[in-house]
Order: sequence, then structure tokens, then C-alpha cells
Amino acid sequence: MHPIEDLSKEHGLIKLMLRILESMNDKITNGQPVAVEDIISGVTFLKEFADKCHHGKEENLLFPIMKKDGIKKEVELIDILVAEHVQGRGYVRNMVEAIDKKEKSGKEFADVFVSNSKNYVALLDQHINKENTILFFEARQSLSESQLKELEGGFENFEKNIIGAGRHKELHGIIHKLEGIYL
Ligand SMILES: [Fe+2]
Ligand SMILES: [Fe+2]
Repeated sequence: MHPIEDLSKEHGLIKLMLRILESMNDKITNGQPVAVEDIISGVTFLKEFADKCHHGKEENLLFPIMKKDGIKKEVELIDILVAEHVQGRGYVRNMVEAIDKKEKSGKEFADVFVSNSKNYVALLDQHINKENTILFFEARQSLSESQLKELEGGFENFEKNIIGAGRHKELHGIIHKLEGIYL
């Protein structure tokens, strides 16, 4: 698959997860029951699919190849995008800590989880929009055929060796299960 198309498709799935998180947040805020297993599944998807797989491919393969071309405006944008990945990891860490406290204090869990989850959704929505409209647009314009081929191979290896083909499939299963419940 065209590597930029591959990343765009992943954006579609991450955005779907953001909508699921919004629905979970509403339920938690309104005191409606949300299964803890579903919340853990959601956070697992964020850690493994959105961060390890998708942000991993961007940070380790796409960003370096684009930075190499040395277009000043891309270099600055890429630094902002990497900083946003780091910020997102912080929100997810806080969400995990909130889940660990759920048994002891439902109120503390609800407050900390929902506020971090809302921050994550707002951050990632605008982050993905920026990548889709600016960075990916420029990547399609400026990367050569051989650079695209290099990326395509790199992405395949990354998925196989860092994530594992079976796990990738399982993560798709997780999101579609949650979609059925929350959307
Ligand atoms: Fe990104
Ligand atoms: Fe992205």
C-alpha cells in the first residue's frame, strides 16, 4: 500500500477511537456504567495502535525521511508533531493511573480519567488534521518514488517486527468491538 495512504487509513481508525472515547467520557460523567474491560481495551488501543504502531512509523520512518530533504517549514512542523506525540503519551499515562485507582475512588477515577481523555481527544483531533492537510499533502508532493518504496518496505517491517501481524489484527478487532458498543 502507498505509505501515506497507509498512515491516512490509520488516522481514520484513531479518529474512530477518539469518538468512542467521547462516548465513554459522556457515560462516565453522567454516572452511567462503563465496563472497566472496555476502558482498558480503549487505552490498550491508544498505547499499541496509535502510539507504538502509528506514531512509531511516523517518528522512526516518515519524519526522518522528510527532515532529510531539509525543507525548513517541514522541520519546524515535525518538531511540533513529535512534541504532541510526547504530550499525548503523558495524557495516556494519567488515564492508566486513573484506571488503577478506580476500585478505591470512583470519583477520583472519573475526574482524572475524563479530564485527561478529553485533553487527549482535543490534542489528537487537531494533530491528525494538521498531518492530513499539511504534512501528508507535502509528503505526497515531495517524496520521490524511491523514497516512497523505502517507506513502504520500512512500514511492512515495522508492523511485522515491532507490532507483529497477529497483534495488528487483534487491535482492529478491539476497536470494532468497542465501536459496536459505544457508537
Ligand atoms: Fe503524528
Ligand atoms: Fe499521524
